[in-house]
Amino acid sequence: MQFHLNGRPVDFDGDKQTPLLWVIRDWAQLTGTKYGCGIAQCGACTVHIDGAPTRSCVLPVEAVEGRKVTTIEGLSKDRSHPIQKAWIEKDVPQCGYCQSGMIMAAAALLQEFPKPTDSQINDTMTNLCRCATYHRIREAIHAAANA
Ligand code: FES
Ligand code: FES
Repeated sequence: MQFHLNGRPVDFDGDKQTPLLWVIRDWAQLTGTKYGCGIAQCGACTVHIDGAPTRSCVLPVEAVEGRKVTTIEGLSKDRSHPIQKAWIEKDVPQCGYCQSGMIMAAAALLQEFPKPTDSQINDTMTNLCRCATYHRIREAIHAAANA
């Protein structure tokens, strides 16, 4: 089955029930997308499918046939996405494990709300961070929105 991964056509010939996360990590060898809970709760595995943030750990790869999947590696070529720049400027990550998913969720948030309020951020960013970097995440999203 074919789909687009970070702008390139790919042809996956394994089990179509394989969760997209494992196709991304094990088959495509793109390990920026993380496995946290495996039950669509934490958001560590967030990627974009046709631009929409999606938790890839519970989605069979067959669901993305013919669609465009973007991972953290495909968000920009050189860390130039406004969210990536703001993340660096605000020094957001602590351990870093949740941050790929956070960045993908935040990038999608800005598409929906170019100048988000705190409550829009709080309502939309449902990813979990065990290091509790939530304050810096909010600051960085505002910085990216104002850039
Ligand atoms: S690993 Fe997918 S939501 Fe936690
Ligand atoms: S930075 Fe450690 S889990 Fe979020």
